[in-house]
Amino acid sequence: MSQTRSTVGVTPVGDLVLAIETSCDETAAAVVDRARVVRSSVVSSQVDQHARFGGVVPEIAGRAHVERLVPVVAEALVEAGLSGHELDAVAATCGPGLIGSLLVGVSSAKALSLVWDVPFVAVNHLEAHLYAALLEEPDLELPMVVLLVSGGHTMLVLMEEHGRYRLLGSTLDDAAGEAFDKVARFLGLGYPGGPAVDALAVEGDSSAFAYPRPLVRENPATLPEDRRFAFSFSGLKTAVLNHLRADPDAATADVVASFQEAVVDTLVTKARWAVEATGVGSVCLGGGVAANSRLRERFLDMADGAGVRAFLPPPSMCTDNAAMVAAAAWWQLQREGPSPLDTGADPNLGLRLVP
Ligand code: KG4
Ligand code: ZN
Repeated sequence: MSQTRSTVGVTPVGDLVLAIETSCDETAAAVVDRARVVRSSVVSSQVDQHARFGGVVPEIAGRAHVERLVPVVAEALVEAGLSGHELDAVAATCGPGLIGSLLVGVSSAKALSLVWDVPFVAVNHLEAHLYAALLEEPDLELPMVVLLVSGGHTMLVLMEEHGRYRLLGSTLDDAAGEAFDKVARFLGLGYPGGPAVDALAVEGDSSAFAYPRPLVRENPATLPEDRRFAFSFSGLKTAVLNHLRADPDAATADVVASFQEAVVDTLVTKARWAVEATGVGSVCLGGGVAANSRLRERFLDMADGAGVRAFLPPPSMCTDNAAMVAAAAWWQLQREGPSPLDTGADPNLGLRLVP
């Protein structure tokens, strides 16, 4: 057990958190020390089981979590060189996500917290994605703007302090990752589509086709205030599909490169607007799409141009993992203490926002 301890009021809060993540199709467990040092992070992907269906099948996901969770937790403990009794808390993602999958992780974490007699912490998956950038980054300062881009969500959040999030804007329809997956599926590139598009786009010409940049203008002030930081990827996806129907011989690499550039342009432009509007000194990326190589490159250039510090989690911490859940759990323990053992899983859980 680590020696340093922190306190919430009079309640001692320990440092070593074991977290479990089972919200979708990755079975993951990790041990993180003081929300910063990753002692272990194990991710068992179910992609092979879902790929032939072209997307995640909830029933298969739930069953696979049941099969894989115990070995994954055991591996995380061995990798960290710890036994369960040396831990200070056990956390699990409690939503949003697939209900059957979430229940596997939440029930297991509660049972382990009882066995080891340590606090249980129920973590919001979106909040966990926000915390991925704080792992291994002791210098990160708040407030910061976070661009959270995953398969289910796309949002710009002002993280004012720990646990205090202001939503600047979110997608009105499809999430960025969803657009990647749908375009890839139409092109027969398999599931998940994001990594396949990323890899193929390197061989294409990103200026070959001028796809739309939704809700982007030269001057942000010309957009209605409630649309300024909003996203809409459904129309862009449809524009690509219509183009492919009209021009089936278009080179696939050029199509995906041009599509990716349109998504990245839109995301980076709005992130820059958010940095300018809020006056923050730091900006970071989170969520599975944050693993995209072109987005990472353009995001760093944007931050450089805006004179702010950019924090990009390594690609393995962008896609679903339990280390980010452990980090969010540790900060939550500092602020709020343990979660009640009757906390349930909530498939539609949203980020708790300040008005
Ligand atoms: O955060 P995540 O692992 O799961 C959710 O919480 O949704 O994000 C998964 C999404 C998928 O849509 C996947 O296609 C996308 O992230 N993704 C990528 C890349 N890697 C994963 N999108 C673009 N480029 C990538 N390299
Ligand atoms: Zn996620």
